[in-house]
Amino acid sequence: MSKKRIAIIPGDGIGKEVVAIGVQLLETLREVRGYAIELVPFDLGADRFLRDGATFPADDQRTIRETCDAVLLGAIGDPRVPSLDYARDILFGLRFGLDLYCNVRPIQCLDDRLMPIKGKGAKDCDMVVFRENTEGVYVGVGGNFKKGTPDEVAITEDVNTRKGVERVIRAAFEFAVKHGRKRVLMSDKNNAMPHAHGLWKRVFEEVRGEYAGIESRHMYVDALCMQMVRAPETLDVIVTNNLFGDIVTDLGAALQGGLGMAASANIHPGRIGMFEPVHGSAPDIAGKDMANPLATVLTIGMMCTHLGFEGEEARLVEIVREAVRTGRCTRDVGGEMGTRAVGDWVLAQVRGS
Ligand code: NAD
Ligand code: IPM
Ligand code: MN
Repeated sequence: MSKKRIAIIPGDGIGKEVVAIGVQLLETLREVRGYAIELVPFDLGADRFLRDGATFPADDQRTIRETCDAVLLGAIGDPRVPSLDYARDILFGLRFGLDLYCNVRPIQCLDDRLMPIKGKGAKDCDMVVFRENTEGVYVGVGGNFKKGTPDEVAITEDVNTRKGVERVIRAAFEFAVKHGRKRVLMSDKNNAMPHAHGLWKRVFEEVRGEYAGIESRHMYVDALCMQMVRAPETLDVIVTNNLFGDIVTDLGAALQGGLGMAASANIHPGRIGMFEPVHGSAPDIAGKDMANPLATVLTIGMMCTHLGFEGEEARLVEIVREAVRTGRCTRDVGGEMGTRAVGDWVLAQVRGS
């Protein structure tokens, strides 16, 4: 197998802290399992922007696109930089620039103690969200007219293309087939937005017909939010647009024990993938050795699957499950350890596994 090149972008706040653990984990995997990987650091984020004004230089974009197989990203967002333009340049530069149209966000609760819903346990929560990742209200089409006046009108267009909608819906069904999952649910608001979301409805009707072995249904996103909390065990694979996917996966993170447990992969099947925990830079706990690194460990598991390292993701999930079960974790998930100590414990398990 040829050497896999992994771009490393720690970014801001706790992104740096969790990616430091992620880098150690990748180095340990290289040593223990013999994976042929090369880590390629990139200096992107608020520090860089404040130093020289660069957000995501074309050279870096090209190096990543043309020479890397995966990207590990921490988080972008820093209170020292009031405008988040630089953060969008980097984050969307990767997601849109690499055409990573599936943002895959598993919502799996790994321990009963992490389940916040009365009467439910870990076994009741095992979903995977396919969030469309290149379109919707995120594309930045719109404008502020008569800005700053009492007559201001602010418009953000929800851009949905036939090709864009179809490919992510198809990817969700293909994932269900490949992983033996039984159900796919598409969520939108076509009742309120018949143009943009009417397209989702029509495409879903067409594509579901090709997957007779998979139970498929539709749910409006408001109802889905309620269902995720009242009956998470009824949900399996969920496919939805960019904005709704962003929102329901933070809700889903709460079912997993919080943002410190939520992993994600930005993929375009067969191409480079970008892997990042769902959480942000958490300025409230940055620099305090309090950030939970387990979402990053799970995220690296997803990266290993993408790179063809069979069995590694399942092993890392088990290590994370054990960390939570035995209290080898940070305060947000009921432990008393710091970021680095949790990281060290994970590395020791990898060496012993
Ligand atoms: P956030 O995810 O950074 O934090 C929300 C809450 O969850 C905070 O209380 C935080 O302390 C806690 N939290 C998050 N991750 C944690 C972890 N690993 N361990 C323990 N606790 C954790 O969201 P926010 O506060 O809304 O955003 C902060 C900044 O991050 C903003 O600039 C936002 O735009 C950015 N952001 C970036 C990304 C990304 O780069 N992918 C994702 C989300 C938010
Ligand atoms: C996420 C974040 C981003 C998003 C923000 C920082 C633009 O919330 O990765 O979930 O909305 O996609
Ligand atoms: Mn989000």
